[in-house]
Parts: sequence; C-alpha cells; structure tokens
Amino acid sequence: MTRPAIYPDLADRTVFVTGGGSGIGAALTEAFVAQGARVGFVDIAEAESRALVERLEAAHGRAPLFVPCDIRDVPALQAAVAATADAFGDVTVLLNNAANDQRHAPETVTPEYWDDRMAINQRPMFFTAQAVRPMMARAGGGSIVNFGSISWKLGQGGMPAYTMAKASVHGLTRGLARDFGRDRIRVNTLLPGWVMTERQLKLWVTPEAEKEIEAGQCIPDRLMPHDIAEMALFLASDAAKMCTAQEFTVDGGWS
Ligand SMILES: NC(=O)c1ccc[n+]([C@@H]2O[C@H](COP(=O)([O-])OP(=O)(O)OC[C@H]3O[C@@H](n4cnc5c(N)ncnc54)[C@H](O)[C@@H]3O)[C@@H](O)[C@H]2O)c1
Repeated sequence: MTRPAIYPDLADRTVFVTGGGSGIGAALTEAFVAQGARVGFVDIAEAESRALVERLEAAHGRAPLFVPCDIRDVPALQAAVAATADAFGDVTVLLNNAANDQRHAPETVTPEYWDDRMAINQRPMFFTAQAVRPMMARAGGGSIVNFGSISWKLGQGGMPAYTMAKASVHGLTRGLARDFGRDRIRVNTLLPGWVMTERQLKLWVTPEAEKEIEAGQCIPDRLMPHDIAEMALFLASDAAKMCTAQEFTVDGGWS
C-alpha cells in the first residue's frame, strides 16, 4: 500500500459515517481516525463494528464512536448523528456510505421489497444531510459525500431497485449542493468501481467475474477499500474546497 496523503485540516474534525463497521465503510472509519479526526459511525453489524473500534483504539490511540443503528429507522439515525455531535462536536464531514446490493430478479420484486431497498439505499442519505446541515452551517462549512455506484452506468442487471437507488444518488447530490452551497457545504457523489470487500469476495467475485474485471478496467490491479477512502479524504478536506455537485469515480477506468 502506498503511503496515504495527510490532510492537516481533517485533524479533530467530527466525521459521521453510515455503514462504517465493515467493507468500504471500515476503511473510511480507519482512514479518518488515522488523520486524527473524531469519527462516529452507525452499522447493524455489531460484532464487526465493536472489533473495529478496539482495533483502531489500539492502533491509533483514539476510538471511534460506534452507535448501533439500522438506517431504515430515520429517528434512530437522526439520534445517532446527534449522539456523535454530543460526543465530539458539530459534524462537518458526512459520509453516506451504507447500502445493500442484494440481488433480485425483476419478477420477484413486491412493493414492500422495493420500499425496503429505498429505505436502505436511498432515503437515509437525505435525512443525515438534513441533520448535519445546521451543524455545518454553524461551523462555516462542511463536506457531504454520497456513495453511488458504477453498476447502473454499466447497465448491470439483476438488482433494478439497487441500480435505481444508486442512479438517484447524484440527483440528491446536485439538488442539495445548490441548497447548501451558500453555507459553504459541499455535496459530491463518490462512485466506486468493483471493490474487493469481504462481502464481494464471498458472494460475487467468481472466476468469471475476475475475467470481467480484467476486461473492464484499464488498470489491472484490484480496487481495494482504501483506494476509495483516499478519494473520500480528499473530498472531505479543504483541498477540495471548490469541488461540489460533482461525481468522482474510482473504478480503475471501467466506466
Ligand atoms: N464494493 C463494491 O464493489 C461497490 C461498488 C459500487 C458501489 N459501492 C458502494 O459503496 C458503499 C459501500 O459498499 P460496501 O461494498 O462496503 O458494502 P458492504 O455491504 O460491504 O458494507 C456496507 C455496510 O453497511 C452496513 N449496513 C447495511 N445495511 C445497513 C442498515 N440497514 N443499517 C445500518 N448499516 C447497514 C453493513 O453492515 C456494512 O457494514 C455502498 O454505498 C455501495 O453501494 C460498493
């Protein structure tokens, strides 16, 4: 791994991460803790999240705050944002990362299943942004990063509720960037390519998928969670202070 960039302005900033306990989210939590930021995160994976807190405290001498929370429960999510601010001060970096890419054949989708996918993959992003806006405005600015996906750009099938939710992320980004920009709150979309998380390796990365990656990417290496975290650090930092309402893609050149 190359040495990660250091952004001195991220030290002591309060960061809120959804789904920060495993996968790309765990890399985000770790990357921001390593910058000296104060990180609060929500997740439903309690054992993995608690193990991450212990590991980061041992490695960096500061523990992130884990708030167990299902992001489908909007009041609980709003309370988790408030708990993070109570512990560490106003949130000035929001990483809307949590999602679930469960596959579903179009003919099996019911209205209840559709709503549930939106309740995980779409709705929470708005309500966390709404919750942090006054904090960021008070602090003189902030950065919101909404996680999209290249899957819908590639025209990937087998999960239409997920691809629709992920395509809609950038609409939210563009709308909020206009509304929040006057308070110097930046809102961007980060689009990961196919990232080799434990879940992806366990469920979806077959030998055929490996061939697909090789054919699709320009760069032959596999995308790792820390490659995505590097972009999130940049977008959160003052180095990106004039970047807003944009998509930033980290996909090895696939899309
Ligand atoms: N891994 C990839 O290849 C890839 C590709 C494109 C986009 N993305 C996007 O990147 C982001 C992170 O993806 P990932 O691969 O790390 O996902 P992941 O499934 O490995 O991790 C998601 C995290 O969110 C948590 N989570 C899921 N449902 C939750 C809920 N209802 N309440 C609270 N927490 C919940 C999970 O426990 C997990 O810790 C997502 O927005 C995803 O759409 C990932």
